[in-house]
Amino acid sequence: MEKFEVHGGKKLKGTLEIGSSKNACLPILACSVMCNGIVKIKNCATFSDVDDMQKILEGLGAKITYNDSDVIIDLRDICSCEVDEKYTKKIRSSIFMLGPLLARLKKAVVAYPGGCNIGNRPIDLHLKGLRGLGVKIIEKHGFIYCDGSDMKSSEIYLDFPSVGATENILMASVCLEGTTTIYNCAKEPEIEDLQNFINAMGGKVHGAGSSTITIDGVKNLHSVEYKPISDRIIAGTYLIACAMTGGDVELKNVNACHNFALISKLKQSGCQIDTYRDKIHIRTNGNIHSVGHIETQPYPGYPTDLQSQFLTLMTVSDGTCVIVENLFENRFNITSELHKMGADIKLVDRMAIVKGVSELNGAKLMSSDLRGGASLVIAGLRAKGYTTIENIYHIDRGYYHIENDLTLLGADIKRIVD
Ligand code: UD1
Repeated sequence: MEKFEVHGGKKLKGTLEIGSSKNACLPILACSVMCNGIVKIKNCATFSDVDDMQKILEGLGAKITYNDSDVIIDLRDICSCEVDEKYTKKIRSSIFMLGPLLARLKKAVVAYPGGCNIGNRPIDLHLKGLRGLGVKIIEKHGFIYCDGSDMKSSEIYLDFPSVGATENILMASVCLEGTTTIYNCAKEPEIEDLQNFINAMGGKVHGAGSSTITIDGVKNLHSVEYKPISDRIIAGTYLIACAMTGGDVELKNVNACHNFALISKLKQSGCQIDTYRDKIHIRTNGNIHSVGHIETQPYPGYPTDLQSQFLTLMTVSDGTCVIVENLFENRFNITSELHKMGADIKLVDRMAIVKGVSELNGAKLMSSDLRGGASLVIAGLRAKGYTTIENIYHIDRGYYHIENDLTLLGADIKRIVD
């Protein structure tokens, strides 16, 4: 069991380059199955979730080699349509395999991913959309059996702009004859990146990033070399960490437009932020103003993946802030941990009322989800004394050695192996 030990009080200072996005790499890796050739992902993210997705591909017949941070995937011998249950349980994104496997083999079998630590996470929208394309789906004994032998292009309306459902339906449609239109799509930048990846392989997808996506079917996809976008959630986490410590940090390889909602809230809380073509510079003095109210929404609204981090920032603000979580019901799990540090947070349904306190105190904490875990690290960076955070495998799912990045910026944080 590994844990972090953080000695709070150090201001973050310096420059850091942000790597590829987990939420872009996962659907892109899944989508690579649709190519009967070789896919090279440049500067692929190296988080544990991404490793697991690569193992899923290997289980389907892909051969994977590495060249520094590039991943080279030979997909010519894809032969299985069944995703190894071991990984379905481990990473929810295994559900992304439905669309690509249906496109390549007209069949897919995936174990039901179930809920996870941040909430119930149903997949009804994925299945409804695939049924709309003519896929016959049987759900039994915890497995989803998909038969795509009668698939055809169609018009699909999503009842809610789900990121994963948009991506799955989009991928399933790429090789269908005719035109498929998906309405009320999610608009996250990672979906636009998936579109760009598919088009780089010869696909004809338009409109990603808006609420309507059209897909003109192509017969097959060719080999490609592709570099995914940078991780806006990691960038956002470090911006908030900097604000928390009163630091001065420049992030490179970032697209500020992808973090507009966060940047606007950070400015409201008193941070000075300058944005450039591929850089963000944040300067803060540690005095944090309450932003009053913040509510998670689909993109371009404030992201749920940066909610726990902002809640943590608000624990040391000069006022009261109401935070509403509209997407994942268990995102407030971290509040019991923050209480141990002296934070004043009251929960009412999907709302957290956070009253700023003058300081947090170091404590022994337990991480229970990815972004919540990173938020506890942020709390530890500000707190007086030592904070230990256990169950850090949650954090490793989406941050590659977060301690190395933070140490580079001057934090006092160590990974302890018991
Ligand atoms: C993706 C991101 C995740 C992020 C989330 C919201 C990846 C790998 N993960 O997750 O980090 O937190 O977007 O920005 O990209 N829903 C249904 N039925 C469905 C699907 C979703 O009711 O079939 C609901 C969910 O419970 C949730 C909301 O829709 O309340 C949004 O979920 P969704 O956009 O699908 O998130 P994911 O794609 O799972």
